[in-house]
Amino acid sequence: MAPDRSYLLLTGATGLLGRSLLRDLAAAGRRVAVLVRGSKTADAAARVDELLADWQEVAGAVVECPVVLEGDITRPGLGLDPAAADWVARHVGEVVHSAASLSFERRPSDDEPYASNVRGTANVLDACRTAGIRRLHHVSSAYVCGLREGRILETELDIGQTPGNDYERSKIDSETAAVSAPFLDVVTVHRPSIIVGDLVTGFTNTFHGFYKPLRIVQPFVEAFVQARLAPGSLLDVLGMSGREAKNLVPVDWVSAVMTRIIQDPSAHGRTYHLATDHPTPSGRLCRLFEELVVAMAAERSAGRAGAAPRPPAFDPATLGRLFGDQMHVYRAYWRDDPRFDTSHTRAFAPDLPAPQLDDETIRRLCRFAIGSGFRWPPPGRPAPGPGARGALVERLGAPRWSAAPAGPCAGLAVAGAGGGQWTLGSGADGRPTWHVGLPAPGAPVVRLTAARLAHACDERHPAAALDGALVEGTTAADRQVAVDLLTAVVMRAPGASAPAERPAGSRPLAAVR
Ligand SMILES: NC(=O)c1ccc[n+]([C@@H]2O[C@H](COP(=O)([O-])OP(=O)(O)OC[C@H]3O[C@@H](n4cnc5c(N)ncnc54)[C@H](OP(=O)(O)O)[C@@H]3O)[C@@H](O)[C@H]2O)c1
Repeated sequence: MAPDRSYLLLTGATGLLGRSLLRDLAAAGRRVAVLVRGSKTADAAARVDELLADWQEVAGAVVECPVVLEGDITRPGLGLDPAAADWVARHVGEVVHSAASLSFERRPSDDEPYASNVRGTANVLDACRTAGIRRLHHVSSAYVCGLREGRILETELDIGQTPGNDYERSKIDSETAAVSAPFLDVVTVHRPSIIVGDLVTGFTNTFHGFYKPLRIVQPFVEAFVQARLAPGSLLDVLGMSGREAKNLVPVDWVSAVMTRIIQDPSAHGRTYHLATDHPTPSGRLCRLFEELVVAMAAERSAGRAGAAPRPPAFDPATLGRLFGDQMHVYRAYWRDDPRFDTSHTRAFAPDLPAPQLDDETIRRLCRFAIGSGFRWPPPGRPAPGPGARGALVERLGAPRWSAAPAGPCAGLAVAGAGGGQWTLGSGADGRPTWHVGLPAPGAPVVRLTAARLAHACDERHPAAALDGALVEGTTAADRQVAVDLLTAVVMRAPGASAPAERPAGSRPLAAVR
């Protein structure tokens, strides 16, 4: 049987762009698997649960939970367990490679950004070759142009330009490797300019690019204010005229355009500048930074009414020098941006121009970053529990990566933190089985939320799961298979080794074979 390659593998899903892509691709009906590394405190699945909980908390969105592969792009074979690597070879037809290190200067301790961006991309390409995946979307950067000035075309890459820093050098090398991989049929390159948070909520979970200077600026501006320095002094400290233009694009727009490109094979095989034709002048940014930091400092001190005002820690000249030292690494980003030609992007999505960032939007973005202390998730926030997935593991043991056995089966797509995507079936002994990933398109699928399934499992009450679930299937018999399989799982006692109990009135699984 030909492998079902309906899954798209996304790297970098925990990042600012990746989490928007996960939401938008899933909403567009794509089956998504993500490659995520574990952290010191959480495995890959728990990290994905956290980002799904973020979506729910910040935007009220219950996002489809993807198949989670634990791995690290800096490791050979992406550090995948052999069973998971085999699953990729059977299910994945397309890769969206967004993972990267955004360190601007080489770090001797771990050789970033080269470890993730150059060798990591080489490993992703190697994984495509090994698994027979022939379509790649590579997320690069508009700043592969390095220190060039003037108009930059989407068709240009390495024309001997000087990179502004190690990050830019690593992105030139990785894009070059991606577009010249001989075993790929189609490579599409997505080159965003400076990505900022969500247009509507201001949300961001990482604080690079636009946020780094804000983060450095904040304590200095506060100190300057205490030292009663005139507004506008930030530009002086930065050594800028105020006319330098910064090409800022909100993450939700970048993700929306990318998703549309990814979903339309006729758009593949080209390079897209995901940049605005209306960059933001640095003078406006500095004014808004100053005003906002001052306003937020005043709000804070109003909250500490009665406390003595803090004296300025440094004199303005010392502050200026310290700020200049810290900004050194970001100099390449704080010069005047070149003009990124967006012909390909505009021709493909003329109805989806980059939104212009008004003052209120920039304030919202800055407020979110300053308000969250440039850290996400907020310290002390409890991690979401294992939810519905935990309840299923208690009943069925760990899901298998191998192919599901022949026989009646149904997909179970559980959205939100603690969810997942599986194929339910029944073993030779009649007990329910579950395997990672949805069955080939056409098979019945039950879709519901993790909260609903966890509640139904707690109560061992299948109707609570099915009430509000979407049961997809071509025929009524197919849909009944899905309902019966889910019922058998919910009714199974946690930790049960005996065959599943059946609720009164339900048909035995054998009857639906
Ligand atoms: N942000 C911008 O302004 C900007 C502008 C132009 C282009 N880009 C490009 O857009 C893409 C996404 O950037 P972003 O803003 O979303 O960055 P981000 O928020 O820092 O996210 C980076 C993502 O890459 C993952 N990653 C890094 N090294 C990895 C490794 N060794 N193995 C597995 N995963 C790894 C991170 O995982 P962890 O959570 O485990 O760290 C995270 O999910 C990148 O290719 C970047 O170069 C970004």
